Amino acid sequence: MKNVRIVEKTNSDAYLINGEIKKWDGPNSNVYSSIQTLDIDGNKTQTLLGSIPDMDGEVALEALESADNAFKRGQGEWPTMKVKDRIKCMRTFVEKMKLSRDRIVELLMWEIGKNKADSEKEFDRTIEYIYDTIEAYKDLDRNSANFKKNSGIHAHIRRGPLGVILCLGPYNYPLNETFCLLVPAIIMGNTAVFKPAKHGVLLIVPLLKAFKESFPPGVVNILFGRGRKIAPPIMRSGKIDVLALIGHSSSAVSLQDEHPNKNRLRLVLGLEAKNPGIVLPDADLNLTIKECISGTLSFNGQRCTALKILFVHESIIDKFLDLFSKAVDNLKFGLPWEKDVFLTPLPEPNKPNYIKDLIDDAVSKGSRIINKKGGQISENYCFPAVLYPVDKSMRVYHEEQFGPVIPIISYNDISEPMDLMASSEYGQQVSLFGRDIKKIGPLIDTMANLVCRVNLNSSCQRGPDIYPFTGRKNSAVSTLSVHDALRSFSIRTFVAAKDNEYNNEILNELVNSKESNFVNTEYLL
Ligand code: G3H
Repeated sequence: MKNVRIVEKTNSDAYLINGEIKKWDGPNSNVYSSIQTLDIDGNKTQTLLGSIPDMDGEVALEALESADNAFKRGQGEWPTMKVKDRIKCMRTFVEKMKLSRDRIVELLMWEIGKNKADSEKEFDRTIEYIYDTIEAYKDLDRNSANFKKNSGIHAHIRRGPLGVILCLGPYNYPLNETFCLLVPAIIMGNTAVFKPAKHGVLLIVPLLKAFKESFPPGVVNILFGRGRKIAPPIMRSGKIDVLALIGHSSSAVSLQDEHPNKNRLRLVLGLEAKNPGIVLPDADLNLTIKECISGTLSFNGQRCTALKILFVHESIIDKFLDLFSKAVDNLKFGLPWEKDVFLTPLPEPNKPNYIKDLIDDAVSKGSRIINKKGGQISENYCFPAVLYPVDKSMRVYHEEQFGPVIPIISYNDISEPMDLMASSEYGQQVSLFGRDIKKIGPLIDTMANLVCRVNLNSSCQRGPDIYPFTGRKNSAVSTLSVHDALRSFSIRTFVAAKDNEYNNEILNELVNSKESNFVNTEYLL
């Protein structure tokens, strides 16, 4: 119980619909942290952080109506507004959001157990993402601030919004990844219904006012509660144009199934992955161990980009296991705000047992726990187990563990890990460790067709956010990056006119009079 802070409770009955922060008078649900504190009787227990509304389908449809009215089938104030005015609203928002940094960082630590440095990084990276999105949108706008002429037709081509977005984010990046969907979606002129993730929900509460004060009514609507109660009725209405979800494919598929007009539904999805790390015989082991530690265990492996299975050449496997398991055992476990802490409590109450089950299953089928502390379990943690050898009969070979367990396989022929990648259900990224370009070169050529990012002597990761983040097969639909997300949430649309005196005069007048926000050649500085 060392070093536990007093947590300030957030009991919120507020939600945002149609520009109004309303008071929910239905049932609430408590929000707990898996970080333990002492209860009134002196027993260790999970910490009550506060409560949120447990909303239902009826209010979900009200939020949808508000977003639908604000979009007004493309006729609303927001989708027809000048780009510079939408940017102004987003700037107002980001300035207000910055004021909640301390509270949001504190809640990230308590709600999802992310360590302080990473919680601060999540907040700061999100602010930077918003500024970068504004700049990228200005760029996009500048590139459209002109006319093209082809085959006797003038064209003024821009990107326009798609409609109403349902935005659902994940618990591991409850602020950053949700905003990586929401921010590009709304700046492009769409309107949104947004429900925060199950864990990492209270940290949205301090932002309700900022959303309300920065955007016209109905542009952003925020609901709280269980996804399975709120999202299906919204999808069933057929009024959602884009499902923007970072989470599990099972949720994405069942929500798509609810939509009556699937052909009209665009998908922006970040889903599961089982990114492999492949260590070639000539890899620099010190560097490889360092990258594999951060790749497998940053935020306890709860990252879609985490390295979730390691293939190590049999000629170096003993050395690798020795160095890697010592490095794992040296990692500091503690509370998120403690100095130099790397491993922290898991927010999902059933996760430690799930990880233990994976370990037990592998061990029962012939694997061993290589590191001394591996598999030590407590109420909110299971110390990372380095498992070796691992084979296809074991659950941990196939399942996306999304937690602290590291399966390792030794290989003799590089075709073994390559075949696994080719037959995998996932295709996000790979880390390739080695030096000899004669070996690396051809491997890169194939790997680039199996995943969407080949990390050379580096762990897998999403950032920097300026680079494309996507995946093949079950890992993603659409591409997210500062630039690509603006494209994912918009469609090309244009004004065309045959080249004749009559039309040219009208086009000239349109441009000079500023009667249209769309036909506009203003250069945004
Ligand atoms: O959960 C998946 C995240 O997109 C990973 O992002 O690589 O920046 O941790 P990251």
